[in-house]
Amino acid sequence: MIHIQSQINLKEHNTFGISAFAKAYTNITTVTQLTDALSYYHDQEVFLLGGGSNMLILKDIEKPVLHLNIKGIEILEENKDHILVTSMAGENWHEFVMHCIENNWAGIENLALIPGNVGTSPIQNIGAYGIELKDVFHSCDVIDIKTGEHKQLSLADCQFGYRDSIFKNEARGQYVITAVTFKLTNLNKTDNYDFKTSYGAIQNELEQLDGSLSIEKVARAVVNIRSSKLPDSKILGNSGSFFKNPIIKKEIYDDLLRMHPELPHYPVNDSLVKVPAGWLIDRCGFKGKRYGDAGIHDKQALVLVNHGEATGSEVLQVARTIQQAVKDRYGIEIDTEVNLINE
Ligand code: EPU
Repeated sequence: MIHIQSQINLKEHNTFGISAFAKAYTNITTVTQLTDALSYYHDQEVFLLGGGSNMLILKDIEKPVLHLNIKGIEILEENKDHILVTSMAGENWHEFVMHCIENNWAGIENLALIPGNVGTSPIQNIGAYGIELKDVFHSCDVIDIKTGEHKQLSLADCQFGYRDSIFKNEARGQYVITAVTFKLTNLNKTDNYDFKTSYGAIQNELEQLDGSLSIEKVARAVVNIRSSKLPDSKILGNSGSFFKNPIIKKEIYDDLLRMHPELPHYPVNDSLVKVPAGWLIDRCGFKGKRYGDAGIHDKQALVLVNHGEATGSEVLQVARTIQQAVKDRYGIEIDTEVNLINE
């Protein structure tokens, strides 16, 4: 049984807090409801909504919206070192991270406080502070939207890259992710675990905190750093990093470095370098600027914010202005990380 509601405002269901209506909206809490809804809408394209944390909605959504709120966490397999834990797609990411920490399962503590749901974490291969989802990913359960077939995709199947996966490329729009299985280190049974604390900001923060090194302490450090730079979307609408950090050729980086010796960078390989978009945007003078209710966060220039009633188009206008300014000043094109919803 599915319950379809009409003209539902999605403002509470996207972290940017953009007011936009779903013509038809169904809250999905079980896999059965999901398969029922997919067969009901078999001849129409549906719009899958998870935590709404990585999208900028530009207009009302005409497609039927399926809001994936399927919950549940279970242990699939446990051995001396590892534990396979499956989370259903609708679990909140940060709550899942905290659940793992409480149970002494290590591996995702660096990813604390990332907004969104577990089910959407593989799409952009979420990452922060030296860890990416792919480092702990085992597999995910999906349903093929057209055929209704249930499948399991492995790490290799998902073709993860920096903020990238098969779900953004050849499998775009093909699947609903219903559950994700993680391979974590079971600290109840082993001490053999490499904490990922080499990322500068974490090391500095850990030194400020009491107690011996633990996954709980690492998560606390990450939460402190993130909360000092990234706004809480319940208070100030945002989607985390709005842009991806651009990856440029080393020759271009070397030229830029001559003109801007303080430009930070992360080497990708021998010929490519990643530079922080936040730094470029900051140096163009955008940090803290406001255009009506749309603006740039005052503590992190990579984050666009909605001060209240901004529309998606107003936020996009700010993004386009930033992209042009960065291009004019540094010759670098920066791409949006956030999905622009215009359908
Ligand atoms: N910087 C500035 N001004 C700013 C922002 C940044 O000068 O306004 C400089 C910083 O001083 C630093 C560099 O730019 O030298 C990088 O900044 P930061 O360490 O804050 O990280 P980031 O590159 O901006 C990335 C991820 C974040 C993730 C952090 C930590 C992307 C697009 N963003 O940000 O992910 O939390 O690293 O690992 O890769 C997200 O995807 O939503 C997100 C928040």
